[in-house]
Amino acid sequence: MQTISTQIAIIGSGPSGLLLGQLLAKSGIDNVIIERKDADYILGRIRAGILEQGLVNLAKKAGVHQRMEAEGQVHTGFEIAINDERHHIDLATLTGGDTVMCYGQTEITRDLIEARDGLNLPTYYNANDVTLHDVKGKAPFVTFSSGENTYRINCDFIAGCDGFHGVSRKTIPNDKRNEFERVYPFGWLGLLSDTPPVHDELIYCKTDRGFALASMRSETRSRYYLQVPLTDNVEQWSDERFWAELKKRLPKALAEQLITGPSIEKSIAPLRSFVCEPMQYGNLFLVGDAAHIVPPTGAKGLNLAASDVDALHQVLDNYYTHGDKGVLEKYSQIALKRVWHAERFSWWMSNMMHNFDSQEQGDDIARMAAKISQSDLEYHLSYEEGKRVIAKQYVGLAYETIK
Ligand code: APR
Ligand code: PHB
Repeated sequence: MQTISTQIAIIGSGPSGLLLGQLLAKSGIDNVIIERKDADYILGRIRAGILEQGLVNLAKKAGVHQRMEAEGQVHTGFEIAINDERHHIDLATLTGGDTVMCYGQTEITRDLIEARDGLNLPTYYNANDVTLHDVKGKAPFVTFSSGENTYRINCDFIAGCDGFHGVSRKTIPNDKRNEFERVYPFGWLGLLSDTPPVHDELIYCKTDRGFALASMRSETRSRYYLQVPLTDNVEQWSDERFWAELKKRLPKALAEQLITGPSIEKSIAPLRSFVCEPMQYGNLFLVGDAAHIVPPTGAKGLNLAASDVDALHQVLDNYYTHGDKGVLEKYSQIALKRVWHAERFSWWMSNMMHNFDSQEQGDDIARMAAKISQSDLEYHLSYEEGKRVIAKQYVGLAYETIK
């Protein structure tokens, strides 16, 4: 067995682990990443691409902003459509100047991997049997195997950045975890294509046929989504069927302009709201999807991961600078405040925008709830203050400075 010593062992090389590793390295804190898959697998995943200003600032701090600034698009607003009725949410005006950046998660991840390689920071890919030991004790360590070799990483702290299905959260004993979960009774079928986006801003469409989202990656690459039953599989959705259904859900004027083409990627994702409390157990800190999941309707998944990373980086930096262990105890509480805020917004957006039919609850409650949601959305869209409530949550809360 090969034994390696570091300050922070990071489990998982998704955006959370990579961004944390980069920021720690900038602060002179040693870290090792242990990842179950390889870099090609990680870069093959298509995820959302709307970045709050907080994440853009953090990318700058981590020194991975150059391509994002050159290729990302600043969006000053987005639309919510209810069938043919279009409502503009002018983010910049409603929030006093805040905007979001449209830049794919895959691209940020690529930039982070390149930056990590550039600094020669250690990453162990294809790690099997990753196991966390002694997380409550004085000398935590992680063991795993990769190829023919087995490894032991001795560390001060472990950052569990290994996503929803990872091993870190499950290391915390059941009676020390409080988990909250709702699985929605539908999925999102996503399609990526090299076609110009149907509009220059995102459009979230609530329709009698179900939800649709028109999004993009660049001026020549589009990303569209359709709400589909959980029982559907991708094989049932030829490109032709996807485009035909999308045209029925987009506002008419836009449907007529839609340019279609072959899909580059097509997949169905379930929707889930999930939170694990607390996000710290001894010397183990949970970060990003390992601790919480939001449905994609508010574009908060990656942004929440980034604000966790910021909070953890701050407390660790603080600890290594001043030696005060007390600051570490602040992480979970500070992260969870933001997590619940985003959970609530994503929950609200999901309830407002989707067609629930009568799949989830008793028929009577579901029929009533659908009417209430429709009225709630119409109310918010009917006056400036209501739109501001949506806009302020969409651009996200400011990050907290931890002392
Ligand atoms: N050991 C090591 N690595 C693991 C293990 C394990 N047992 N289990 C999972 N992993 C790896 C996965 O292979 C993946 O690369 O951890 C990584 C977790 O990455 P993500 O799932 O992308 O989670 P995170 O980095 O928190 O990303 C948050 O990305 O997934 C989206 O919706 C999410 O947008 C949000 C953001
Ligand atoms: C995406 O572009 O993939 C995307 C954008 C906004 C969302 C969800 C997904 O709310």
